[in-house]
Amino acid sequence: MEVKTSLLDNMIGVGDMVLLEPLSEETFIDNLQKRFSHNEIYTYIGSVVISMNPYRSLPIYTADKVEEYRNRNFYELSPHIYALSDEAYRSLRDQDKDQCILITGESGAGKTEASKLVMSYVAAVCGKGHEVNKVKEQLLQSNPVLEAFGNAKTVRNDNSSRFGKYMDIEFDFKGDPLGGVISNYLLEKSRVVKQPRGERNFHIFYQLLSGASEDMLKKLKLGRDFSKYNYLSLDSATVNGLDDAANFRTVRNAMQIVGFLEDEVQSVLELVAAVLKLGNIEFKPESRANGFDESRVKDKNDLKEMCELLGIEQLVLERAFSFRTVEAKMEKVSTTLNVAQAYYARDALAKNLYSRMFSWLVNRINESIKAKTKARKKVMGVLDIYGFEIFEDNSFEQFIINYCNEKLQQIFIELTLREEQEEYVREGIEWTNIEYFNNAIICELIENNQNGILAMLDEECLRPGTVTDETFLDKLNTVCAEHQHFESRLSKNSKFLTDHSLPHNCFRIQHYAGKVLYQVEGFVDKNNDLLYRDLSQAMYKANHSLMKLLFPEGNPAKVNLKRPPTAGFQFKASVGTLMRNLQTKNPNYIRCIKPNDKKAAQVFSESLVSHQVRYLGLMENVRVRRAGYAFRQAYEPCLERYKMLCKQTWPHWKDLARKGVEVLLKDLKVPEEEFSYGRSKIFIRNPRTLFFLEERRRQCLEDLATLIQKIYRGWKRRTHFLLLKKSQVVVAAWYRRYAQQQKYQKIKSSTIVVQNISLSKNVLSFILLRDGSMQKYFFDLKNTMPSMSPIDKSWPARPFLFLEGTHQQLRSIFHLWRCKQYRDQFTEEKKAIYEEKLEASKLFKDKKALYPSSVGQPFKGDYLDINKNPKYQKLNIVMDEKLLLADVINKVNRANGKGASRIFLLTKKNFVLADQKTGQVKASIPLPDLSSVSVSSHNDGFFALKLKQGTASAAKGDFLLSSDRLIEIITKLHRTGAASSDREPLSVDISDEFLVQFKQDKVCVKFVQGGPKNGNSVTCKRKNNRLLEVSVPPP
Ligand SMILES: Nc1ncnc2c1ncn2[C@@H]1O[C@H](COP(=O)(O)OP(=O)(O)OP(=O)(O)O)[C@@H](O)[C@H]1O
Ligand SMILES: [Mg+2]
Repeated sequence: MEVKTSLLDNMIGVGDMVLLEPLSEETFIDNLQKRFSHNEIYTYIGSVVISMNPYRSLPIYTADKVEEYRNRNFYELSPHIYALSDEAYRSLRDQDKDQCILITGESGAGKTEASKLVMSYVAAVCGKGHEVNKVKEQLLQSNPVLEAFGNAKTVRNDNSSRFGKYMDIEFDFKGDPLGGVISNYLLEKSRVVKQPRGERNFHIFYQLLSGASEDMLKKLKLGRDFSKYNYLSLDSATVNGLDDAANFRTVRNAMQIVGFLEDEVQSVLELVAAVLKLGNIEFKPESRANGFDESRVKDKNDLKEMCELLGIEQLVLERAFSFRTVEAKMEKVSTTLNVAQAYYARDALAKNLYSRMFSWLVNRINESIKAKTKARKKVMGVLDIYGFEIFEDNSFEQFIINYCNEKLQQIFIELTLREEQEEYVREGIEWTNIEYFNNAIICELIENNQNGILAMLDEECLRPGTVTDETFLDKLNTVCAEHQHFESRLSKNSKFLTDHSLPHNCFRIQHYAGKVLYQVEGFVDKNNDLLYRDLSQAMYKANHSLMKLLFPEGNPAKVNLKRPPTAGFQFKASVGTLMRNLQTKNPNYIRCIKPNDKKAAQVFSESLVSHQVRYLGLMENVRVRRAGYAFRQAYEPCLERYKMLCKQTWPHWKDLARKGVEVLLKDLKVPEEEFSYGRSKIFIRNPRTLFFLEERRRQCLEDLATLIQKIYRGWKRRTHFLLLKKSQVVVAAWYRRYAQQQKYQKIKSSTIVVQNISLSKNVLSFILLRDGSMQKYFFDLKNTMPSMSPIDKSWPARPFLFLEGTHQQLRSIFHLWRCKQYRDQFTEEKKAIYEEKLEASKLFKDKKALYPSSVGQPFKGDYLDINKNPKYQKLNIVMDEKLLLADVINKVNRANGKGASRIFLLTKKNFVLADQKTGQVKASIPLPDLSSVSVSSHNDGFFALKLKQGTASAAKGDFLLSSDRLIEIITKLHRTGAASSDREPLSVDISDEFLVQFKQDKVCVKFVQGGPKNGNSVTCKRKNNRLLEVSVPPP
């Protein structure tokens, strides 16, 4: 939120007209217009508030605003009606000064609204509590009641106050409200019976007809239709934006809060209804014998109903409309009334009835809101009186109203000057006389007891003989002819003789606010304000709770032959009292200005405003205020505001504020005639000096703002940098932690890998612990490694006992690795050879004594070079398969056991026996026909190839063969079987006794150990039909 310390801050135009440079009506109006267009409706002239009617609701009356202005000095914030209200209230509460708030301005300028704003502000800031709140509520709620009965729509204002109002709000010593007193001035009662075009009667008539229940209307003998009532003009019966029915409820509610009893409300409404009925009574002439017309009530129904409402005897009232009794010197004379007189009497009664009821209402409200204590009270008076009025036709009412405004203007000038003077005295400043227009001379013209206009009028009214408005004007023409402010065509002052703007039946007064032409017609009647005694007596006799109070003069017991005081006299007296009252109080002014005639928001009519500025005397007001010193300010706020302009006073001044201001002004070289030092304030003569200070301040503030910005920016950057730095440390710490975590994870997973390749815990711990002895162990081991031969069984001794496990494992790992290395160097062929060797070992190792001798022999397979030997070409043809083995072997003769050489060929599918010399094939046996092979366990080369029973080969019988390369032959035979998918591997039986099938005979082959004489040779002998014995050398 923007913080203000002075009204000079962010001003639109100037907030105080005193500061206008140059000062002219034009600049004055321009300033008003500029501010108005920015919704700044309040402007000061010193301590006077000018208020422009915005004709729309502005958000400047909120509770927050009240708080903003509360307890703040007048010039601290933008101009506002709250500032004035606060100043007045605090001055009342804290300095015990009675206050009055004078609100002036023309009709529709916003006086009533302003008075309500003042009251609501004071209500908001003064004390709280149950009783206090009740009082406040009653004071505030008196407004809707008085507005309903005293306000009406006029061409100028939809809610125009048709009475003057002065309300004293009373407070106790603490500033809590105690109660109040309302005075009312001259209700415009002529409105009751007749309203100008485009205007309405008082609101209450319309509110009652629109808002009352059917039941109530029936009781009051009324109908809802406005058009049935002569007193209600029809052309503006409804007003835009006015909800009469809702307002009626508000008024009833307000009356209840203020303290009206139900009976009283009912009585008041009966009176309102009676006035409406009265307006409907019509008269007709009835000729009398004396030749005069006498009036008679035409249709008695309305008369009857009215009498019923007020409890009046119908006949009495009827008679009062036909006759008039004049009492003179104890004699009673009765004269008849003609129709015109009867209407006059009817309207006079209606006007009196209504205006007296209004006064009763005010008194009744006063009774309710009256302070309940006799203790001394502090008073704040709020005056909301009709403003200066100039119509086309101005009559007695305007004369009275304008007189009242003259008085107010006078008091305004007097008090303003007095205040100014008092301030100078108080502050010890020399007083210089101020020239200004004093309107006392106009007041004199009107109110002078000897030859004032009001006195002349009264004189005429009281004078015996024929009295007319014309005789009154004649009198004025004689008495006031020389007066500077009086103008009349027929006056003795010849300069107006030819003034055609001055009709003969008029007089003109040069008021302070302009010239006003008054029609003299009606002055005498209105001043007399006569109500025929017969009517007041009829009213007095009424059987109604209010009537006796309203028409006390109708009491026959108190017949007073003295004429009642005239309206003019009464008004003058009450204005006199008011003025005296106001003079005892500290005045506060609100001068309301109407921006346009259309009741429109944001329309500024320059001519209308300048007219008001002129007649409100605002320019004079500024001049008076500026005559001495244009601006004044207490030393403390002044020093506070400008101290930055001087090195000595900035930033802190330790001495008295006054001395500080002196130093400051000297330093700034402000000419001495431009200021005076008062006791508590500095007085500045010209606005330009103030503006000079303000301009310097503005520049200085800019520099200061730059400085502040600079420091702030530096601070902000530095804070940001420090934050970044701090963040960087945090980020780095986190990153380091993260990186270490990653590293750790890597080490951990590496460890797991090491463990997974079966490194012992000890080895691992060695790696991890980098133990020196472990390192040495491994280095030593490297140098003492055994050979790469898989059969090398050597392994260095272990150096430490604790390495036993590791040592053994390393040995095993090394051996496995060495074997792998060994294997890896094998070619496919070599691998096949070794596989055969492995197979041979599986078949024969430790089972046959011949085996060890075969281990060192390579299994060549083809020992005959069959392909190259031309001898064996025939055999090539036999073999369509790859040759696995070709060798010469012995075929054992079945008959004698002797051997014969044969070529033995082996392919994947069969084996062939052929003649060694010729190469002729003796037998070719498919391998699937073989059932098994039998060998002995000895160191011999015999083997039997057994054929499957039933095969074609079996017919030849099993083969008994012998070869030194038995191991290779059988291994290859066995492998061909194992490699073939359609055959079982050839079974190899190792036994020293087995059967062979030789054609039909089964012969047992038995192996025996030969004696020493046999030597190392193997012999085979047929022992008998059934036995073949093979003797083998001993092992
Ligand atoms: N401060 C304001 N904010 C909004 N509207 C306002 C303000 N002041 C006046 N008005 C409007 O202007 C209208 C006329 O104002 P108000 O009745 O106070 O005038 P007035 O000076 O009392 O006139 P009169 O002399 O006829 O009684 C109000 O009904 C309201 O609509
Ligand atoms: Mg008003």
